[in-house]
Amino acid sequence: MARRKKIYEGKAKILYEGPEPGTLVQYFKDDATAFNAEKRATIEGKGVLNNRLSEFFMTGLSNIGVPNHFIKRLNMREQLIRQVEIIPLEVIVRNFAAGSMAKRLGLEEGTPLPRPIVEFSYKDDALGDPLVPEEYIIAFGWASQQDMDDIVALALRVNDFLTGVMFGVGIKLVDFKIEIGRIWDNDYMRLIVADEISPDSCRLWDIETGQKLDKDVFRRDLGNLTDAYTEVARRLGVLPSNVTHAAKPHVIN
Ligand SMILES: Nc1ncnc2c1ncn2[C@@H]1O[C@H](COP(=O)(O)OP(=O)(O)OP(=O)(O)O)[C@@H](O)[C@H]1O
Ligand SMILES: [Mg+2]
Repeated sequence: MARRKKIYEGKAKILYEGPEPGTLVQYFKDDATAFNAEKRATIEGKGVLNNRLSEFFMTGLSNIGVPNHFIKRLNMREQLIRQVEIIPLEVIVRNFAAGSMAKRLGLEEGTPLPRPIVEFSYKDDALGDPLVPEEYIIAFGWASQQDMDDIVALALRVNDFLTGVMFGVGIKLVDFKIEIGRIWDNDYMRLIVADEISPDSCRLWDIETGQKLDKDVFRRDLGNLTDAYTEVARRLGVLPSNVTHAAKPHVIN
């Protein structure tokens, strides 16, 4: 079999050329990084869990009409996705203060916010993904005003969906990050959710105990990361062993 062409290798995933034009294969690695890759580790099983969990969330989004890149899962670590042109932003939605926001504003972690707050970081590892105002984004041409309105609307729909799904299994969605990409149907451009949705990119706290079930377990040395992600997967019914419960991919054209 001919070797697949590697398109990009990031910190957590590898992208390979897909079987058809406009598709990619996304491979989930076991590597974990934090603090702009100053802290690194390989955490056995993380990639398998994130592949499953991202499939679960993206399929759920498709089912409520939120467009995203997921096409189908291929195996334990790989999924077929639509290739997009990534907008160089981390789109962050916060429901409770935590992490950099808590630090910046001197808020106690867990303080409820008056409403969901959407913020943007410019994706540039060398600069440490700095927070940027919408005005910069438009002035520098990374996205138009219309794009930004669409991105905020998409982000808030993802927030409502994820908040509800997580609440249903006793987990509080504190905040999360998504990436958005452009696809073209002839001359018509659309924005869709891309990258991944997993405990690597969310803050998830047990509603009863406050126990952290996300990448902060790794960032702050709070225990075994795979155990935390396994707990999320178990509650959602998407454990790797539980193949028959996996949601069927549903593609919206
Ligand atoms: N559907 C898609 N089409 C094209 N690129 C994508 C798609 N989904 C995600 N990507 C990009 O693929 C890469 C995934 O790799 P990974 O998350 O490991 O990167 P990373 O090390 O976090 O680096 P980056 O700072 O670029 O995100 C990211 O650069 C992401 O923006
Ligand atoms: Mg990434």
